[in-house]
Amino acid sequence: QISGLTGQTFLVFCTAFLLACFLLKRSKNLPPYPAGRVPVLGHLLALGRAPHLKLTAWRRQYGDVFTVRMGMKDAVVLNGYTAVKDALVDRSELFASRPPNYLFDSTFGFGKDIASVSWGTELKQRKRFATAALKKLGMKVGMGSIEEDIRQEASFLRNRIAGYKGKPIDPAHDVTVAVANIICSMVFGRRYDYEDETFRELTEAIVTVLAELGAGQIISVFPFLRFVPGVNRASLCVSAQVAKIQKVVKEEISRHREHLDRENPRDFLDFCLLELELQEKLEGLTEEHVLYISQELFFAGTDTTANTLLWSLLYMTLNPDIQNKVHEELDAVVGESLPTLSHRSQLPYVNACLQEVMRIRPVGPLAIPHATTEAVKVRGYDIPKRTQVLLNLYSLHMDPAYWPDPDRFDPERFLDAEGKVINKPESFLPFGGGGRVCLGEQLARMELFL
Ligand code: HEM
Repeated sequence: QISGLTGQTFLVFCTAFLLACFLLKRSKNLPPYPAGRVPVLGHLLALGRAPHLKLTAWRRQYGDVFTVRMGMKDAVVLNGYTAVKDALVDRSELFASRPPNYLFDSTFGFGKDIASVSWGTELKQRKRFATAALKKLGMKVGMGSIEEDIRQEASFLRNRIAGYKGKPIDPAHDVTVAVANIICSMVFGRRYDYEDETFRELTEAIVTVLAELGAGQIISVFPFLRFVPGVNRASLCVSAQVAKIQKVVKEEISRHREHLDRENPRDFLDFCLLELELQEKLEGLTEEHVLYISQELFFAGTDTTANTLLWSLLYMTLNPDIQNKVHEELDAVVGESLPTLSHRSQLPYVNACLQEVMRIRPVGPLAIPHATTEAVKVRGYDIPKRTQVLLNLYSLHMDPAYWPDPDRFDPERFLDAEGKVINKPESFLPFGGGGRVCLGEQLARMELFL
């Protein structure tokens, strides 16, 4: 007997319950599964190491809306401009939450940041504050402005690469540390010498965490694996590296507290400390949030921008004719010195090349997974509340209906009949959109250009 029920009654009860669940699920019109689902793993093996490629291929077979099984959970995949724009922009609030993801959530203090927190007041307040702070920093002019910091870093990077005197190199490390240093300038108000011990530890920790967050996703699919010795390696490694990054950020917070000039905030941490003074009375932002949000700017703002720059170098190398055109435009407008933001409107071909790099190789091809905040209907399919939704941005950028011969690198796509650059064409969302749009879009665009 189980708590007064006979084993037989218990069995009947369970069967009825499972049948009710099954019928309830069947009564809904859920998006279809592609073929190739296997027990336990679902579609994980079929998706492989570059899931956006497989999902874009499945779009041709299964349409704009389908479901993939990721271990024990389903994720609805939206493809193509109409479906993705509908979810990201037109009905943003219905799709703007985040699903639980153990490794990601534990890295960000289970929602103490911006990217992992669920949709709601906390996210809106944090994002509003952080966006305003970045905007104010972006508007500063002269010494200590973001533009000057980026130009200075670009100059260091240029000298470093010139120092190799034409020998073959892999530029990945130099580009990554330069980009990380820009985040240091913006968040801490200081850049580091590339050989500085703290800076080396910081950049190594950022790169390691980003790699492990990808490699350790199996823990997010099967969270119980974090208790299994050996398999939990990624999780342990991430915690150790995050502790190192947080040590540096905490020291910077103390240094900023000592030297805070309330009339003249110089960097992101200064803006945070001022906001803390305001919000402590309202129980809003705490120092822990500042820690996680600052750390997030390093994670979200390093690999993304650095990889886009690396793709740019590769496409320039592979397309010498296009490289020559870029050079001619730069020589005519800027000459030998480094460009400033005021040159932007005079360099349409350069800007078109950057747009084309982000189209053909978007560094966040599936954005960050979203989750529905309510039960919604998409193209006649029912999508229950709290369903994980993957927005396949890559499928927009590779859609032949908008981009003929989409695999060809062709910056001219982004130039109008008068030769002006098209900034916001249809079927192009490298930074996402709506309530979850990338926080660093303006900063990233400045960095890529400068
Ligand atoms: C989110 C792209 C650089 C901070 C995102 C998303 C994409 C993206 C696709 C996901 C949007 C979604 O979930 O729907 C890029 C690209 C970059 C870049 C292509 C560079 C080329 C940066 C930089 C920062 C940044 C420089 C900050 C310093 C963030 C944050 C989020 C985010 C905080 C989360 C927003 C939220 O959850 O509401 N980015 N990003 N990103 N990005 Fe970026």
